Amino acid sequence: MASRSILILAGDGIGPEVMREVKRVILWFSEQCGIDFTVSEGLVGGAAYDAYGTPLHDDTLDQAREADAILLGAAGAPKYDALPFEVKPERGLLKLRKELDLYANLRPAICFEALADYSSLKKEFVSGLDLMIVRELTSGVYFGEPRGIFDLKDGEREGINTQRYTTNEIRRVARSAFELARQRQNRVCSMEKANVMESGVLWREEVEWVGDNEYPDVELSHMYADAGAMQLVRKPKQFDVIVTDNLFGDILSDAAAMLTGSLGMLPSASLGEQMEAGWPRALYEPVHGSAPDITGQDKANPCACILSFAMAMHYSFDMGAEAKRLSDAVEATLAAGIRTPDLLQLPGESPASTTLMGDAILRELDHSLAYN
Ligand code: NAD
Ligand code: IPM
Ligand code: MN
Repeated sequence: MASRSILILAGDGIGPEVMREVKRVILWFSEQCGIDFTVSEGLVGGAAYDAYGTPLHDDTLDQAREADAILLGAAGAPKYDALPFEVKPERGLLKLRKELDLYANLRPAICFEALADYSSLKKEFVSGLDLMIVRELTSGVYFGEPRGIFDLKDGEREGINTQRYTTNEIRRVARSAFELARQRQNRVCSMEKANVMESGVLWREEVEWVGDNEYPDVELSHMYADAGAMQLVRKPKQFDVIVTDNLFGDILSDAAAMLTGSLGMLPSASLGEQMEAGWPRALYEPVHGSAPDITGQDKANPCACILSFAMAMHYSFDMGAEAKRLSDAVEATLAAGIRTPDLLQLPGESPASTTLMGDAILRELDHSLAYN
């Protein structure tokens, strides 16, 4: 099998801490399963700003274009908050998504049985939960023009962002959602605010068009995004695939994360068009951020980042069995009661560090070889 190249951009805050555990996992698959991964590393976010004065250097972007898959930790930290928008750490991430045209952001919210008691909802509402949020990632209000803060008369100012979508941008992400639904329970729920926004009307019409013309076998429903947020915490298991725009998807996926026990559990895959090699352009990253409140304390939950690597094996490397082996190892670790502090709430539990959690996952991977 040809070597698979991975570019690691650990970024800021807990990014490097959780990525350290992912690197150990990658090494494990190389050594134990003979998979030839070629790993290189670069800087993104505040780390890149400190080194180069920009949150994403052109050379790093070139490296990203060359890689079979990119793994990203997190970008952003309070010390950069006052920087101008163009050089804020988060811009590095947004530029990667835009330049590589990674329009379909898959955010699976799966509640492992061992964590069914750890959600903010009652166990019966989340036990067995397996939903997929497909968030449009390269357009909408994140990128629409005009944007900016402008001076008005009399010392007033106005801040402007523009929500904007085109037919093609909506249709392509809708197709991603319908394709995923066919592999799952064959149901798509599209969320927008067609009751108040023209872009929402267009969104609904175009998703409907794709459903009617290309995926008549998939059940399609629509919800206003505010009602969708309510349904997500009322009865989350009603959903299979949710497709929504960039901003609603950002918010809904953080809410969905808490259904699984912690924001530290949710991985993501950001996929673009197929590359020549046959798999899509892709960036994998946890849904969480740089967690400044726990940075440097060996407390971060590495599961979201490790499960993002499992998604890379699945979507970029066609290694479904290995992806499952890894996700099973994470699940077995949780089932053994090993938890970072974000997952503690029952009396008598003592926390594991990031490193210990990584050790335990590697041990479970070892066990998986012994029994198979
Ligand atoms: P956050 O996700 O960093 O943290 C929110 C809360 O969740 C914090 O209490 C944090 O400790 C906790 N948390 C997050 N990940 C965790 C993990 N793996 N283990 C244990 N606890 C975890 O969101 P925020 O505080 O709103 O943002 C902090 C910074 O991160 C900001 O600069 C923001 O822009 C950036 N951010 C980056 C990304 C990204 O790079 N993809 C995503 C979200 C936020
Ligand atoms: C996410 C983050 C990013 C977003 C930020 C850091 C740019 O919140 O990936 O969920 O808003 O898309
Ligand atoms: Mn977010």
